Amino acid sequence: MVMKLFEERRSIRRFGDRPVEDEKLHAVLEAARLAPSWANMQCWRLIVVKDTAIKDAVSTTLENNPAQKAVSSAPVLIVACADPEASGKVKDQSYYLVDIGICFQQLCLEAWNQGLGTCWIGWFDEDKIRSILEVPEHIRIVALTPLGYPAVYPEARGRKSLQEMVFYDKWGQVLNFDTQGGIEAGE
Ligand SMILES: Cc1cc2nc3c(=O)[nH]c(=O)nc-3n(C[C@H](O)[C@H](O)[C@H](O)COP(=O)(O)O)c2cc1C
Repeated sequence: MVMKLFEERRSIRRFGDRPVEDEKLHAVLEAARLAPSWANMQCWRLIVVKDTAIKDAVSTTLENNPAQKAVSSAPVLIVACADPEASGKVKDQSYYLVDIGICFQQLCLEAWNQGLGTCWIGWFDEDKIRSILEVPEHIRIVALTPLGYPAVYPEARGRKSLQEMVFYDKWGQVLNFDTQGGIEAGE
């Protein structure tokens, strides 16, 4: 069931006019709420935007982004923010991005489960969106997504093979699947 979601989900950039039912929006937000996080700090804060003028203002800032039109045309926009102080940091590695990544992807997958489309948007001008949404300076804006009923179901984007992304025992050692699906070190 979960694998089917992984296989069938697409980034959606064209939406129909049909509004998102409140119970579906609730389910999507609940999926985000249940995400694991560093020390269970739940550093995320989500902004649900339905106001057309605000969505349009955000969309205007997304010049050249392939998802620009999706933000103004979808009935809902969700903005994922994080308080970096409410997550972990090891050496120079901040974990608030990891927390938000898990939370937001759970949201996206439940949306798909509800028949709704999303599209992660990570390329945006944070200052401009901060100003439109009145987000405090100490809070980072990490991702946006439109939410609505898909108007177009795109072709799957390709992915690397497992052999290209998984090593066996040591960095660089190839992993192979034998004919029975067993895993073994390869040449
Ligand atoms: C962190 C992150 C940031 C992304 N930013 C954008 C973006 O700014 N604009 C956009 O159109 N798509 C964006 N995407 C969507 C990717 O382009 C998309 O996930 C990828 O091409 C694979 O397509 P699929 O999601 O349909 O499988 C982003 C995805 C992720 C995970």
